[in-house]
Amino acid sequence: MSQIHFIGAGQMTEAIIRAALKREAVQPDAITLSDIDPERVATLKARYALSNTHFEVLPDALAAADYIVIGVRPQDDIPGVAQLINQHAKPGATVVSIIAGVTLARLASLLGEDRPVARIIPNTLTDTGLGYSGVAFNAHVDSVPLMPFLESFGKVMLLEERLIDTFTGFAVAGVNYVYYFAEALADAGVLAGLTRAQSTQVVWENLVGAVSMLKLSGLHPRQLMDINNSPAGVGINGLYELNKSDFAAGLQSSVLAAVRRTTELSGQ
Ligand SMILES: NC(=O)c1ccc[n+]([C@@H]2O[C@H](COP(=O)([O-])OP(=O)(O)OC[C@H]3O[C@@H](n4cnc5c(N)ncnc54)[C@H](OP(=O)(O)O)[C@@H]3O)[C@@H](O)[C@H]2O)c1
Repeated sequence: MSQIHFIGAGQMTEAIIRAALKREAVQPDAITLSDIDPERVATLKARYALSNTHFEVLPDALAAADYIVIGVRPQDDIPGVAQLINQHAKPGATVVSIIAGVTLARLASLLGEDRPVARIIPNTLTDTGLGYSGVAFNAHVDSVPLMPFLESFGKVMLLEERLIDTFTGFAVAGVNYVYYFAEALADAGVLAGLTRAQSTQVVWENLVGAVSMLKLSGLHPRQLMDINNSPAGVGINGLYELNKSDFAAGLQSSVLAAVRRTTELSGQ
């Protein structure tokens, strides 16, 4: 069984551990953790019954790890983390970085050109197993044994690294738009006279059902709308009002703003 060490035991690390354990991609005794805050490590060990007691000391845990996940923030001491890895980790251990905006080139400059490094942007839907993580590997990564772990906390979209920032602004931030749309549509149902519970039930089912229809039929959304809308009918009258708003352009501008912001943050 591969050993995995997590540096930085924050929100994202916890979400990944929870999903990986739930899908049995990793056993509790194969996980070790470190964080500036020892209480955070103790909390996660207790919460997820992480039972590895062989490698309590950080150098030992790093030396035993086949995979080292870096889960600190972009503004944290990344050179310090890299130094620890360089000092103690096996030369062949794969580093999995989830740090937004930190490129493979920067990681290679800190960890050495020969270190296998995977750059992952996880989504926040880890508990569902749905949603995509954006993934770019350097040339040294053996992706086959790594894949079950990556697939335990989301679907994997392999990307050219130049698209990772676009992916972050579009796909990871993109869940917001669905939540926002669900809220706005449920409000519309209430405005029209349904109870909040009735309206919410309808919205969730319509969202799931519409995505299923798109997948099942393979049709373009516009073709399905055409089937849904009779001449001068209810649907086309509703769509006419929506077309007068900046619904599509507003959404698209939002996505472009999020992508721009990701790029700005990467450059800082
Ligand atoms: N949240 C998301 O939606 C998301 C999505 C994709 C990618 N990411 C990336 O995931 C990473 C983690 O995000 P997060 O939301 O989980 O952040 P977080 O909750 O703040 O977790 C970071 C943890 O790392 C610890 N830490 C800082 N410096 C350290 C060091 N030198 N050695 C060991 N531990 C250290 C922090 O401790 P202190 O708090 O005591 O400093 C904190 O517990 C970020 O790089 C982010 O860009 C996040």
